Amino acid sequence: MKNILVTGGTGYIGSHTVVELLNLDYNVVIIDNLSNSKMMVLDRIEKITGKRPKFYKGDIRNREDLSKIFKENQIDCVINFAGLKAVGESVRMPLEYYENNIYGAVVLLEEMKKNNVFNFIFSSSATVYGDPASVPVDETFPTGGTTNPYGTTKLFIERILMDLAHAEPKFNICILRYFNPIGAHPSGLMGEDPNGIPNNLAPYITQVMVGKREKLNIFGNDYDTPDGTCIRDYIHVCDLAYGHVCAIKKLDENPGVVIYNLGTGKGSSVFDILHAFEKAYGKPIPYAIAERRAGDVTANYTKVEKAEKEIGFKAKYDINDMARDAWNWQKNNPNGYEEK
Ligand code: NAD
Ligand code: UD1
Repeated sequence: MKNILVTGGTGYIGSHTVVELLNLDYNVVIIDNLSNSKMMVLDRIEKITGKRPKFYKGDIRNREDLSKIFKENQIDCVINFAGLKAVGESVRMPLEYYENNIYGAVVLLEEMKKNNVFNFIFSSSATVYGDPASVPVDETFPTGGTTNPYGTTKLFIERILMDLAHAEPKFNICILRYFNPIGAHPSGLMGEDPNGIPNNLAPYITQVMVGKREKLNIFGNDYDTPDGTCIRDYIHVCDLAYGHVCAIKKLDENPGVVIYNLGTGKGSSVFDILHAFEKAYGKPIPYAIAERRAGDVTANYTKVEKAEKEIGFKAKYDINDMARDAWNWQKNNPNGYEEK
């Protein structure tokens, strides 16, 4: 499988995956509606890899956009990153989330089928485990109990994919449940560029470092963890990107329907992350303890054995690498991909 359609390929994880694919000589076609990304990402991809991926500005909910791509390109495999992902926004606008994410995935799968493309890789999330009964979680843990519409779209799409695979064995499907991707490309040319006030920890910290925010608010220090803050499995976005290459190889060599957690297997607290960023910064980062955030689970990190054994996936970066690269990106691009 050499020709890969990457939906949402100018987004944060998509762009890093495209770089990984181009560096390994895959042919990449991107479709993105640019609702949460910028065209400039393509220049950065080209700067890093020396190659410019074929880009279609389009929407996965639009059949014409998709059929044009499938007609003009011989696609072997689709990686579906396209979707809305802001948890708080999904609570306020559930219909937009169900329509964009679920309807979008269904239209994409229908158009794939019409065009005889049967290999599909889906960006799911550790959020499908809800509040896990214990950690580390593995892929056999029950899913459900999502606390917001965004998470529920991931859960529903996973179920749709299982039903599809059952009904149509021609489909080969790999569901990847990401833990917490952070960090940036080591070149400092690509990274996370959230709109408005960041909801997530790492981009919030880097905006404090660059002087755009006054201090980090730590959401609760009274959890039942060693330092009282929540524990997550942070994974470098470049490691995560490589996980998609492992998934493509798996579908190629040993087709079927598979689910993998992608994380490092190490739990880090909010303070661990803050300290990693302070190390990269060389000075303290201001913070305050704030109220717990609704919907946060105490701890969630993964077992890594399945992905390691079956697809040879092993994360190589630690939280200090993630902090260094995220800071390098933010420092070089204080306003992200454009002057704001
Ligand atoms: P992102 O917002 O940076 O990238 C998503 C891209 O999809 C954007 O470029 C956006 O413009 C595009 N897009 C959205 N709807 C579209 C549509 N209907 N048609 C075409 N393009 C569309 O997000 P990301 O962080 O790169 O996440 C990629 C995927 O991984 C998402 O599905 C997200 O839910 C999932 N995921 C992300 C995380 C995370 O922490 N970032 C964790 C777990 C899962
Ligand atoms: C969140 C989403 C998850 C989504 C992921 C990526 C929730 C409940 N989960 O994961 O569904 O897939 O983002 O978009 O929203 N924190 C602070 N201060 C901040 C920001 C975060 O203390 O300003 C803490 C949080 O309380 C949490 C940790 O940092 O303990 C990580 O938060 P975040 O980066 O938002 O990721 P998740 O909540 O794990």
